[in-house]
Amino acid sequence: MLLQRVTFIHPVIRIGFCISFSWRAVVDRLLTKYGVIVGGRSSTHSYTSQLIIGINNKLGKSETLPSPRSEGDILSSLNLKAFTYNELKNATRNFRSDGLIGEGGFGYVHKGWINDHSLAPTNPASGMVVAVKKLKPEGFQGHKEWLSEVNYLGQLHHPNLVKLFGYCLDGDNRLLVYEYMPKGSLENHLFRRGTQPLPWSTRIKVAIGAARGLTFLHDSKPQVIYRDFKASNILLDSDFNAKLSDFGLAKAGPTGDRSHVSTQVLGTQGYAAPEYIATGWLTARCDVYSFGVVLLELLSGRRVVDKTKSGVEQNLVEWAKPYLGDRRKLFRIMDTKLEGQYPQRAAYTAAILALQCISEAKFRPHMSEVLTTLEQLLVPRSSRPTTPSPSASPSDTTFRPSKKSQKGQDHQ
Ligand SMILES: Nc1ncnc2c1ncn2[C@@H]1O[C@H](COP(=O)(O)OP(=O)(O)O)[C@@H](O)[C@H]1O
Ligand SMILES: [Mg+2]
Repeated sequence: MLLQRVTFIHPVIRIGFCISFSWRAVVDRLLTKYGVIVGGRSSTHSYTSQLIIGINNKLGKSETLPSPRSEGDILSSLNLKAFTYNELKNATRNFRSDGLIGEGGFGYVHKGWINDHSLAPTNPASGMVVAVKKLKPEGFQGHKEWLSEVNYLGQLHHPNLVKLFGYCLDGDNRLLVYEYMPKGSLENHLFRRGTQPLPWSTRIKVAIGAARGLTFLHDSKPQVIYRDFKASNILLDSDFNAKLSDFGLAKAGPTGDRSHVSTQVLGTQGYAAPEYIATGWLTARCDVYSFGVVLLELLSGRRVVDKTKSGVEQNLVEWAKPYLGDRRKLFRIMDTKLEGQYPQRAAYTAAILALQCISEAKFRPHMSEVLTTLEQLLVPRSSRPTTPSPSASPSDTTFRPSKKSQKGQDHQ
């Protein structure tokens, strides 16, 4: 397997990441064709890295939607609390290291406590728990992402989007204050060693919650494209209700008769749709592709890019694709941590759905259709109006692989 470390210098941000062979080919093509600048953001808690591929060419500057409002307009119009840096220092007990609950590409996330009425900082005994994200001082890109989160989460309210209480813009400091999500990110539950494996029904519940969040964004007027859908950006409350967080890369969708928005390519390796990487043309279907990738992660319990594996197994999409449409072979890619405890028919329906989501853009379903299919999986078969998947598939019983097939699974 060919791996290459690539580090380019972006005018405002300098970072590096590892790319796999196929990604290298894409990047090489972009370099030759458009002359791109590639950077990435990585985190200690994530194996994947965020791509920042700026395309300096004729592509779409005129088509890029201008920011509709100035920073001052955005901040003053929103019903959010403006915290001072000192208030958040107090709320997090000076950003104590034992209160660090997460790290993404752009920020460290700390546990904090505020009063649930006044939102003033308080002590752990009496306050409401919040999550405080402090952006690493990384210049313009960080500020842009911070403002994007304030802008979108300040305006969009839905049970499947994380709630933003306020922000802090104090000198060079940029912070965000969110509702605390006690079960952390889906990434931690799927991939972190030592965590209890998620049962099948919880995986479907999480997929449905996340699909509701994305459907809401895509159906909003104007449409919002999330652009960074991945397991680490899906947060879970105490009942495993999923909420989307991290709106740093969100972007207004195309308006009028435009089919897409032309943008700098931003996203995360493995989750970003191939046509978007190749052209910079962003549509809601790019989110559908990323959703398909997360659905695959839920089914297989594997990361989309896993450098600890060898050959085709490093790339979940390439590895899993041949098995998704084959009922008899599907068990080979299912998470062994499920120990066969999943309804076979529902798993097959979910696998077909994932396959549709990662197919060529024009064949991908809309998020509302994805949501309907997933919701059907939780309805008992007897009360379903129609059969969800074509086929004479076997009965909807828990699949327990035979000793022989279980062995086969180990070798896949
Ligand atoms: N509201 C929250 N409650 C609990 N954990 C959170 C919360 N927000 C973020 N985290 C944790 O911090 C990680 C990084 O947060 P994220 O918003 O994705 O930051 P970044 O913009 O830097 O990627 C998440 O994957 C999650 O583990
Ligand atoms: Mg993130």
